[in-house]
Amino acid sequence: MGFLSSIKSQSSVSILLVTCCLLLVSCGNNTSKETSTPSRDYTYASTIAPILFKNCSPCHRSNNAGPFNLLTYADAKRNANKIKFVTQTHYMPPWPADASYTHFIDERILSTEEIEQIKTWVDKGCPAGDTTKVTPPVFYEGSFFGKPDVVVKMQEAMPIKGNGTDHFYMIKFPYELKHDTFARFFEFVPHQRKLAHHVNGHLINYNYDKKKNVFEGKSYYKDIQGGFTDIYKLMGILNDDGTYPMLTPNTVYYLPGYTPVVYPENIGGYALKKKGAFFLKNIHYGPSAQDCVDSSTINIFFGPKIERPIQETQLGTFGIAPCEPALNIEANVVKTIRSHWTTPTDLSLLSINPHMHLLGKSFWAYALTPQGDTIRLIKIPKWDFKWQYYYTFQHPLKIPAGSTIYAFGIYDNTDKNPYNPFHPPRDCKERNDFMSMGTTEEMFQFIFTYLRYKPGDEQIDLSKRKQF
Ligand code: HEC
Repeated sequence: MGFLSSIKSQSSVSILLVTCCLLLVSCGNNTSKETSTPSRDYTYASTIAPILFKNCSPCHRSNNAGPFNLLTYADAKRNANKIKFVTQTHYMPPWPADASYTHFIDERILSTEEIEQIKTWVDKGCPAGDTTKVTPPVFYEGSFFGKPDVVVKMQEAMPIKGNGTDHFYMIKFPYELKHDTFARFFEFVPHQRKLAHHVNGHLINYNYDKKKNVFEGKSYYKDIQGGFTDIYKLMGILNDDGTYPMLTPNTVYYLPGYTPVVYPENIGGYALKKKGAFFLKNIHYGPSAQDCVDSSTINIFFGPKIERPIQETQLGTFGIAPCEPALNIEANVVKTIRSHWTTPTDLSLLSINPHMHLLGKSFWAYALTPQGDTIRLIKIPKWDFKWQYYYTFQHPLKIPAGSTIYAFGIYDNTDKNPYNPFHPPRDCKERNDFMSMGTTEEMFQFIFTYLRYKPGDEQIDLSKRKQF
């Protein structure tokens, strides 16, 4: 009141009025914040279910890679603390690439807001909301795309021992078509989805006169170590005269939750000889508690003849540019390995795949144009051996002629690396031939797929997948 009584002039009154108005306005703001509070009482039905269905359920459902289901309120409530923990720590959903550096299609990341919503929901005791309004998503079985033109099977089902250890196999999927043709893409359909962790396979095209029977030989081979020529013979991979057939690498690819990328009609594709096989040289199954068998299949979708072939190459191990320095990681050191290469022509980059083994700690790649501009490619701040995606750009990314691509991998061969296969650490060499599979040897690769650049490539949307 003392203040009011000191008012002497009309103008000070109006100043006071203005101040009151401002106060009122700001009060108004406060009230509107308060009225928005109820929506912070996140319920499973209103807020949490949609986040989980989109980002978790593709893997966390029956017979899939996630160790428990996330399809119902009961599932979410039962695992609430774990869900809060793995989202706070960014351990799940698994997406090692730094999304503040570059974006890719099929990116699985939660926004800061979503992570907060999950935390609040768990802290408030997991309110359910009206769960009768929640419909769990329906997932495809068999093929994501519809009806394939050919389904290729193994010749015999493969037994998997329930001994609680990881399994590495080679598998052959032979086929004989009516005539030579073209395929647009292939889709690996795991039978034991819970166990299938990582699949990377070649396409074998046999020349007519070189192979009589593609179906002869063993369908699978387990625990691959050395003696590869013998294994190839046993599996009937070689031509009849003992020479090697034509191999196209990385044609079949799978990770949990992965859907093959199908490029627009005029991009990519494969020539298929009448006689051929898929040869999965590197298939990794996680540990199983019981004995079971696997009869995975591979779908072929035919396509038109190839207009713009996709090329694939790599820097580093077995690549077009060497590792610098040589990839020897001495025990108890943390070491950076680099590789760089200058492109003589304009490229349209489609996808990239950084590759290291268990000593990997982080990865970074970018391109530098002749003008000195940086084109960001990828940053992986925390390497995760288990999640090595082919990261596909939303639009083909132009790398102008004369640009240099740089890749850096940091390796941690100390005791601090929890994935170090050896304690105490041992000196580690580069995997030096195509014939060894060992994850205890190291690799440094920056693999990329690309087209020769054409004007307009930047407009192509690579995220659109057509159903067939
Ligand atoms: C691409 C497939 C995939 C997606 C998507 C995914 N997960 Fe997972 N999740 C896995 C696999 C495989 C494991 C077990 C192996 C591991 O820990 O990496 C796992 C492990 C977990 C674990 C640890 C279980 C334990 O007891 O150690 C939790 C919790 C979890 N996921 C929650 C989530 C949540 C929450 C989401 C979504 C926000 C999610 N996951 C998305 C595949 C996935």
